[in-house]
Amino acid sequence: MSMRTHYAGAIRSSDVGAEVALCGWVAHHRDHGGVVFIDLRDREGIVQVVLDPALPGCAEARRLRGEWVIRVEGTVRPRPEGTVNPSMATGEVEVGVTRLTILNEAEPPPFPLDERVEIDETLRLRHRYLDLRRPRMAANLITRAKMISAMRAAMDAAGFIDVETPTLTRSTPEGARDFLVPSRLQPGTFFALPQSPQLFKQMLMVAGLDRYYQVARCWRDEDLRADRQLEFTQLDIEASFVDQEDVLGFIEEAVAVGVEAVTGERPKPFPRLSWAEAMNRYGSDKPDTRFGMELCDLSALFSASEFNAFKGKGVVGLVVPGKGEMGRNQLDGLTDRAKKMGAAGLVWMRVRDGGVLEAPVTKFLSELEQEGLRTALAPSPGDLLLIVADPSLRKAQSLLGTLRVDLGAPERLDEPLNFTWVVEFPLFEGLSADGQPIPAHHPFTRPHPDDIDKLDSDPLEVRSLAYDLVLNGIELGSGSVRIHDSVLQSRIFSMLGITPDVATERFGFLLDAFRFGAPPHAGFAIGLDRLTMILTGEHSIRDVIAFPKTQSGTDPLTGAPASVDNIQLRDLGISLPKPK
Ligand code: AMO
Repeated sequence: MSMRTHYAGAIRSSDVGAEVALCGWVAHHRDHGGVVFIDLRDREGIVQVVLDPALPGCAEARRLRGEWVIRVEGTVRPRPEGTVNPSMATGEVEVGVTRLTILNEAEPPPFPLDERVEIDETLRLRHRYLDLRRPRMAANLITRAKMISAMRAAMDAAGFIDVETPTLTRSTPEGARDFLVPSRLQPGTFFALPQSPQLFKQMLMVAGLDRYYQVARCWRDEDLRADRQLEFTQLDIEASFVDQEDVLGFIEEAVAVGVEAVTGERPKPFPRLSWAEAMNRYGSDKPDTRFGMELCDLSALFSASEFNAFKGKGVVGLVVPGKGEMGRNQLDGLTDRAKKMGAAGLVWMRVRDGGVLEAPVTKFLSELEQEGLRTALAPSPGDLLLIVADPSLRKAQSLLGTLRVDLGAPERLDEPLNFTWVVEFPLFEGLSADGQPIPAHHPFTRPHPDDIDKLDSDPLEVRSLAYDLVLNGIELGSGSVRIHDSVLQSRIFSMLGITPDVATERFGFLLDAFRFGAPPHAGFAIGLDRLTMILTGEHSIRDVIAFPKTQSGTDPLTGAPASVDNIQLRDLGISLPKPK
């Protein structure tokens, strides 16, 4: 018999009667004096195996302890009546063991590997090899691999070529902080780890590769959150002689195929919102469209109000269904939260029978205005109204959009998958203190052809050919049609205050490449960690990455980042200030 014939976690009733050899770890052992019950764990899950120490092949059964590595031979049989465990995939069967081999003993693990026990994350990460033995974590990595493999197949089928790009390179234009790597051979100079393969994929288009993709590692030195890591993985694509529609099509197909590989179901075609519509209706460029509670622009109603907090401002309202009885403490909490985000205040009103609005502010609102609120928001008795006003309508929308998600977003587990394309992002996200437009994406993003004539007269109104994919209120990916002609590129650089010298210094090699026949091209990148997180129902991308960093950017397993010895530093020509 071979070392192993089956995975323990994959045994099913259809295997009853089969002679099997299984290898794995002792997850639990129960010894009631007679036979010994072992839960044997491997990558695929757990199966119950039963050892009778009276059998010569099982004499060592009583010695077994948690996490020892064993091999068993035996026969699959149905569990005796009354002992079937419907919560286990293998719960209808067990293996009657005829031969036990202890392959390795193990020290007791520093934390129980039981799924039901919450363990401190730093401890889990310090012993990640044990944490990954837990079936849920192993299943997450398997799901991730299945999804990526299906997405690669979709890209291959669409004629994309997988090309690796360097990780020791120069700064890329994504706008986060770079990780720097000192060069020993060129003392005093540094490589930057790429924040994305952006510039290389564009050069591959100049090279005529036509369709590129890569499952690419990216590095960004930014503050960490549940959906952000210092290093993460993108499905990165770029294609030539295509327009926005083509790119959305490629990505939608790859995502649909990836999702189907995991869930068995192909998602419905992804609906689309323009950026302006997403802001108007949801107050966010990554709208959570799993629930309604849409925002309503009330600015016109209050344009000439006596109530100064609203008069002439961008005023936005929202109905929170059934929350009219929210207590004063909670309402104060919401108001504080709005203020922390920069709101001047938050107006709330309880909706009573007959649509009567009850709140401290109603005395400042005319009957006509109150009637206008009822017409615009159509609330029901028992609802709560929230209103935010700000000189900037967009700011009022985004403040209220954040409260909308806090109050309305469903719990993440077992949720439907709600994909949305957000298209027509603005080219600029605002003006800096000295009046310079601030780019909303990298500076190679193509302005919308219908808005080119507004570049000088009304830059903030210029839309771009940039688009995002959003899933359940999380930004999954983003991309754009690029500028491929040098005249338009120089114009955008000059609007952004990037002088020709600076452009040459930062992106000279790309601009050089563009002088030699750049095709029209466009691309996209999806965050694969985020997609896996949502598909597995996890709350943090750390749970779908084999060896992630903690929230504070360290790796408790290897102890990275760590100090290095002086000889290494000297080789690199680096001297550190003496510790105080
Ligand atoms: P962008 O910067 O929007 O676009 O990144 C694309 C996607 O990558 C994921 N992502 C991250 N995931 C985990 N941790 C992070 N720190 C992190 N940062 C980004 C997100 C995001 O939507 N080169 C462009 C794409 C293009 O224009 O083709 C780019 O990188 O899911």
